[in-house]
Amino acid sequence: MKKKLIWDLPTRLFHWLLVASILGQYVTAELLDDAVQWHFYIGYFTLGLIVFRVLWGIWGPKYAKFSGFVKGPVAVLEYAKSLFDRDSLPSVGHNPLGGWFVVIMITLVLIQAISGLFMTDDIFLDGPLRGMADSDILEIMSSLHHLAFDTLIYVVALHIGASVFYTVFKRQKLIPPMINGNKMMPEDEEQYYGEPQGIEHSKLARAIVIAILSAAIVYVVVEVIPPEPSVGQYYY
Ligand code: HEM
Ligand code: HEM
Repeated sequence: MKKKLIWDLPTRLFHWLLVASILGQYVTAELLDDAVQWHFYIGYFTLGLIVFRVLWGIWGPKYAKFSGFVKGPVAVLEYAKSLFDRDSLPSVGHNPLGGWFVVIMITLVLIQAISGLFMTDDIFLDGPLRGMADSDILEIMSSLHHLAFDTLIYVVALHIGASVFYTVFKRQKLIPPMINGNKMMPEDEEQYYGEPQGIEHSKLARAIVIAILSAAIVYVVVEVIPPEPSVGQYYY
């Protein structure tokens, strides 16, 4: 067996910071009183994470790239046939089915973060883009903010269930590689689904540039685009 780096550090950091942010968003919206301000701040951070992941999906290393794991229906169906087969080939990166889960989760969190920018707590705090939309749009954004989260809960439950299913039923360890980046690959490359070479390094310098760019995009959306609040209207 050879140890190969599959998940670069930025992708792993993205994943676990996303998990922490979603938990934080749930706690600040549903469990704590008077935490809406924190809900806003964590929401901006989550938006930044998603912007980063989209750009990283274009310019990141091989297994993080959308072009590497977003497959057409034929590949997805072909893979799905072997889902309950204990001895199916393990995937090097995301498998064709899991790839679509990744796209769906990223899209749902993006919808959640964008719709949040139009929300209000009905007391003091208005999302930064609230002043730019008419009441119909605000209604839609509010419905989206609730609906996207209700959907996300089910998708994430399936996602965690799938990770456990792969570990227990298929005896494929997916969770440790999302922590340390490495997968143990058999010498025989035929035994893996996908390109088995691994990556040389995490492209950290490029990740830092993309992270700064993502933060700048969020800053523009939250601080530059919004109109000046009128008297009695506040946002942070
Ligand atoms: C709020 C909760 C979670 C969300 C929103 C979430 C979202 C995601 C996303 C977007 C990816 C793709 C990573 C990328 O390519 O950028 C991913 C991958 C992954 N996640 Fe999660 N995740 C969550 C919780 C968890 C938990 C609790 C576990 C561990 C039990 C887990 C295990 C994994 C694994 C193993 C992968 C890699 C799957 C593969 O090998 O294809 N996730 N997750
Ligand atoms: C992307 C991450 C986000 C997640 C996961 C999230 C999640 C949630 C959840 C679960 C609720 C409670 C909904 C309900 O009661 O049914 C909520 C409410 C709310 N969210 Fe978010 N949200 C996010 C981003 C944002 C952002 C960026 C803003 C504003 C800048 C925002 C503003 C609000 C407001 C004002 C409420 C209503 C709070 C209240 O009723 O007191 N959210 N959010």
